[in-house]
Amino acid sequence: MATLLDLRLIIVAGKGGVGRTTVAAALASAAARRGKRVLLAQTKSKERLSKLLGGPRVESEVVQVRERLWAVNITPEAALREYGLMILKSSLVYRAVFENRLAKAFIRAIPGVEDYSMLGKVWFHTTEEEGGRPRYDLVILDGPATGHAITLLQVPQAILEAVPEGPLTRDARSAQDLLSDGKRTRMALVTLAEDLPVNETIELSVRAREQVGIHLGPLIVNQLYPPRFVSGPSARALDLLPERCDDEPLDALLQRSRIAQRRRAMNDRYLEKLRTSLPLGQAHLPYLFAPDFGAETLDDLSLRLEAQLLQLPLD
Ligand SMILES: Nc1ncnc2c1ncn2[C@@H]1O[C@H](COP(=O)(O)OP(=O)(O)OP(=O)(O)O)[C@@H](O)[C@H]1O
Ligand SMILES: [Mg+2]
Repeated sequence: MATLLDLRLIIVAGKGGVGRTTVAAALASAAARRGKRVLLAQTKSKERLSKLLGGPRVESEVVQVRERLWAVNITPEAALREYGLMILKSSLVYRAVFENRLAKAFIRAIPGVEDYSMLGKVWFHTTEEEGGRPRYDLVILDGPATGHAITLLQVPQAILEAVPEGPLTRDARSAQDLLSDGKRTRMALVTLAEDLPVNETIELSVRAREQVGIHLGPLIVNQLYPPRFVSGPSARALDLLPERCDDEPLDALLQRSRIAQRRRAMNDRYLEKLRTSLPLGQAHLPYLFAPDFGAETLDDLSLRLEAQLLQLPLD
């Protein structure tokens, strides 16, 4: 049975700050570990992957970051340049056309041109071949947050509606086919089990299906507090203890435990809301209290994610 890691394209989406980049890197590492050749593509991101993956800096050129894992941070300028070079086939002509001050300002002013160049580049990487087979088995897009992700993914549709039949519409159709084919592409929604992210996720799931026609993969719920103060011996002990305690360090411990208890209880309420509102399999990732979120912590998350995704076959 195919799982998320067997696809050709995964779009990682969700509210700002919920852990899209972390989850995208964890997914990419998991797929590479399972023998896939993976490209992790970001759009205009702050450089963080070198720390998360323990590899080189990731800029606008594709760079290998781990075994079977490559990454790129797509910027509109670099994507447009590549695109310009591809059609003009000469850097001299490119410079004359694209780097002309007026032309540059004109190109920038075309509505949607940045999204067009970035999504176009992602799609292009899914079509690249090497030695008669795809260069990458899987491309993972660590996309922009909620609303912008939808706009970005609507680019092919917008072209198909606005541009007369030709080479541009041929590529747009192929990109739209890829986006709406659930056997090749899924959107992986990342959320926290908290009020605002959950509501935004539910809304995003509807827009993704209705406005983009993309299929949804398992939901990835990030940063869950440990359940130990909600059930089990620690929870029972906490219930027996007084509200406050005279001993300062003990009191601090007590208060922190109660905060963890409340947070997990809230997490549980929102997990339930997600279960009833979204008919999707769920993978759960814990809040990792690591003083320094680096490659070791990422690998921990990645292994947990992989184990759960293997139990969540795609419908
Ligand atoms: N499971 C986790 N446990 C602990 N900290 C986490 C976890 N997941 C993510 N974080 C931390 O949360 C912060 C936000 O994560 P991340 O950058 O992946 O989110 P994002 O959705 O990509 O944010 P942005 O919208 O800025 O792109 C980071 O500091 C990251 O280290
Ligand atoms: Mg990010």
